[in-house]
Amino acid sequence: MKIAVFGGDGIGPEVTAQAVRVLEALDLPGMELAEGDVGGAAYYKHGHPLPAATLDIARASDAVLFGAVGDFSCDHLERHLRPEQAILGLRSHLGLFANLRPATTFPGLEHMSGLKPEIARQIDLLIVRELNGDVYFGEKGTRVLDDGRRQGWDIMAYAEDEVRRIAHVAFRAAQGRAKAGQPGKLCSVDKANVLETSQLWRDVMIEVAADYPDVELTHMYVDNAAMQLVKSPGQFDVVVTGNLFGDILSDQASMCVGSIGLLASASLGERQTAFGTFGLYEPIHGSAPDIAGQGKANPMATILSAAMMLRHSFAREAEAARIERAVAQALADGVRGGDLGGSAGTAEIGDAVLERL
Ligand code: NAD
Ligand code: IPM
Ligand code: MN
Repeated sequence: MKIAVFGGDGIGPEVTAQAVRVLEALDLPGMELAEGDVGGAAYYKHGHPLPAATLDIARASDAVLFGAVGDFSCDHLERHLRPEQAILGLRSHLGLFANLRPATTFPGLEHMSGLKPEIARQIDLLIVRELNGDVYFGEKGTRVLDDGRRQGWDIMAYAEDEVRRIAHVAFRAAQGRAKAGQPGKLCSVDKANVLETSQLWRDVMIEVAADYPDVELTHMYVDNAAMQLVKSPGQFDVVVTGNLFGDILSDQASMCVGSIGLLASASLGERQTAFGTFGLYEPIHGSAPDIAGQGKANPMATILSAAMMLRHSFAREAEAARIERAVAQALADGVRGGDLGGSAGTAEIGDAVLERL
């Protein structure tokens, strides 16, 4: 079980260290960890945010545990040298097109949500975010127009096969989450009233739906989805959307359940290993420069990402569920980081999860 560990910048290494403690505590046979440099840390050391050696480590592994990248001291660099290119590069080079971002309210945390507790309590959803296309990976540039004005541009595009493959992932997820005897529920979020990219997205979703008669497909415009997510989030089960909308809606979903320090993610592609599906696992949050180096970050999102790794990349459902129960129990026992109005530090939260594990 080869796991690449890329801590990255800011709180990235702090939170991955706790997830590694949890993985090591399980004492899984043949688990090997290999560290690599990414982000600003890699740029300052090797001159590139995603050195070839790091990519090689990822390719030689069965899964990647990723912290976060981002360092404001790199904001002046050309875009291809900025820290964020490390995660974008890993996602595209490794073909990780399907990003699963579950959001569920932990019992006892209803009062930490930005929503009313009785509304927050209903949240149990999964955002399936496309990760290899959209305006993120289209051509982009800046130019000077004939009249002398500067213009920045980014092309938003999806090819039908890119939409089809993420649609299949989402429909299967909806099937898997369906309650016995009930249809699965999938809501596709787009902006088809304005964007051609979204119209194609919607058309392909409808085509793929024919293969899944046991899943109910609905469509929602992204602006309405942002509103519905705070009005009545309990209506959503699986939400499938593009790269940009998924980025924004998942940060919003995190505050609906209480904190961005709780949301985990799995990024999957087609590659199969001896154990399961190759994947990259990371919290949805960033490097949090405002609290970096202070031992204050909540590592739960990263610990929960390690649980997703055991589930998807190593077919270790029992251990994944054990980690999730340990985190839920720590929260139920009142263990709270600063993001949840408490004072427990990063290592202390790690200790609390380990004790319950
Ligand atoms: P952020 O997610 O890093 O932080 C937003 C806010 O949430 C901050 O106040 C931060 O302190 C808080 N926060 C985030 N994670 C937390 C945790 N685990 N515990 C407690 N509080 C937490 O977003 P930002 O400030 O917009 O971005 C900072 C940098 O991170 C930028 O360079 C950005 O590009 C990068 N970023 C990277 C990733 C990634 O690596 N996948 C994701 C998002 C942002
Ligand atoms: C995320 C982040 C990244 C994204 C950035 C750092 C490139 O915000 O993983 O959510 O936009 O995908
Ligand atoms: Mn994001």
